[in-house]
Amino acid sequence: MVAAIRRACPQPEQPDAMVRRSDHADFQTNGILPLAKQAGQQPRDLAVAVVDQLDHGDLLSEVTVASPGFVNITVTDAAVWRQVEQRLADSLLGLGQPEAGSTTVVDYSAPNVAKQMHVGHLRSTVIGDALARLLEALGATVIRQNHLGDWGTQFGMLIQYLDEHPDLDWHRRGDHSPGIDTLDALYRAARAVFDTDTDFADRSRKRVVALQSGDAATVAVWRDLVRTSMEAFNAIYRRLGVSLTDEHLAGESSYNPLLADVVSALVEAGIAVESDGALCVFDDRFTGHEGQPIPLIVRKRDGGFGYAATDLATIRHRAQDLGADRVLYLVDARQSLHFRQVFAAARRAGWLGDDVEVRHVPFGTVLGADGKPFKTRSGGTVALTSLLDAAVDGARAVVADKNPELPAAELDAIAEAAGIGAVKYADLSTARGTDYRFNVDKMVALNGNTGVYLQYAHTRIASILRKSPTGTHAAVHVDLPPHPAERVLALHLDDYSRVLADTVEQLEPHRVATYLFELAKLFSAFYENCPVLSAADSAVRGNRLALTELARRTLSHGLCILGITALERM
Ligand code: ARG
Repeated sequence: MVAAIRRACPQPEQPDAMVRRSDHADFQTNGILPLAKQAGQQPRDLAVAVVDQLDHGDLLSEVTVASPGFVNITVTDAAVWRQVEQRLADSLLGLGQPEAGSTTVVDYSAPNVAKQMHVGHLRSTVIGDALARLLEALGATVIRQNHLGDWGTQFGMLIQYLDEHPDLDWHRRGDHSPGIDTLDALYRAARAVFDTDTDFADRSRKRVVALQSGDAATVAVWRDLVRTSMEAFNAIYRRLGVSLTDEHLAGESSYNPLLADVVSALVEAGIAVESDGALCVFDDRFTGHEGQPIPLIVRKRDGGFGYAATDLATIRHRAQDLGADRVLYLVDARQSLHFRQVFAAARRAGWLGDDVEVRHVPFGTVLGADGKPFKTRSGGTVALTSLLDAAVDGARAVVADKNPELPAAELDAIAEAAGIGAVKYADLSTARGTDYRFNVDKMVALNGNTGVYLQYAHTRIASILRKSPTGTHAAVHVDLPPHPAERVLALHLDDYSRVLADTVEQLEPHRVATYLFELAKLFSAFYENCPVLSAADSAVRGNRLALTELARRTLSHGLCILGITALERM
């Protein structure tokens, strides 16, 4: 296609025909229109010229021009089977390693110490993990980083509060540290005093200084707070099957030693300037309503470094020390200005080479089932664990109903995988920028676009293959005319690599979810129309087995990218 375009229209060097699956034919090109515009030609004329130049070989069976400048393409049946054969013979399913050689940092999850992980952290955690898995599957070197909120004034407040309430201070009692629930309550109690009692607020600020200058007693309590919180976060990561461990910890505190240097580099370069006692970066591109500049504060008036300074140190470290050529920040949309300012300052400072891509990847909000902001009955934030428990209970009821014979232990294991899968899938199948409602009944339903439906589809496919007396490695007979249901399934399987490429470009995992849902539906239609194991002709059976096996591998690969367990039975 590209060669034909080049012959028909020598500009540009690397034209993109944008060949996509289509309802009008097997494929349609979307790329001729923009090319014609660029070349100052009539789109239809260019389409005709491209078609004239096309070499049909044994790949194309029919090529037609559709107005205003599309090319509709039908491929030969043999070509359809050949790609099934090739993908099956390839352990990478024909995906290749298009991201090989690139290093991507994925900054995700990043909860705050001494607070429970709540529903607000769900999207960053599961979308970030899916993108990390996807890039890794395509050959990228992925550096996962959990930018834990483990530093800052709130620790002065917490530690000071503990100091003034010796009855609460487990350290002083020589006890083990309390659970995250206790910390969460402690945080709220301390915050209430901090916001109303200015003397306490002052003492808390002094405590921050003690922490930052390494006062041993203060640091010991801080360490304990971090450790306790991490235990709770890790338990959630394990349960979610999220690939974050202590090894990926790159909390705010770890950049503390770099802050002074980063800030002085900005001052020397004339990028950070003094304003009202603080050090700020100004940039004409970031202004408020009345055109007044919005500063990025790198050092506060009291001399303390804040969130922005930490992110500047972080971005420099990622580009210069970790050698990242792409950095993704999975953080909610409210921090969009912050990241634009940080990225712009880092570029001005020359820390990011021209080829380094930095992207804030924002996402919509998780709402309650009623469509309102998610709150507990008392108005508090909803802890993530309680949501996961609710989904697992819902999944258990659905699975037990479907398969009452399951032994209790197996039911528990399946319910856990299905409930967690349901939560992740509900999140990942929603377009990234869109809000969605957390509705347990809907997300664990056996029918519809749910994780449970996909897991169930996988078990059905796996069970066909288990029952095959001849195994799953069938020879593909490329000369057999495919049934229409075989043909669309095969073409959909062929589309997988394109969908993954688009997902990387847009950083939108819901594209994978939509693809897998379509795959499950097409497989179901295929299975209804085309008996596999009972097909009389062995060549027909072979081709159907091959399609079944490729469908299973593709579905399981896609679920793995979404971080959802592909179950063998349910
Ligand atoms: N802990 C922060 C929060 O909860 C998110 C950190 C995101 N990452 C970053 N590099 N700033 O808002």
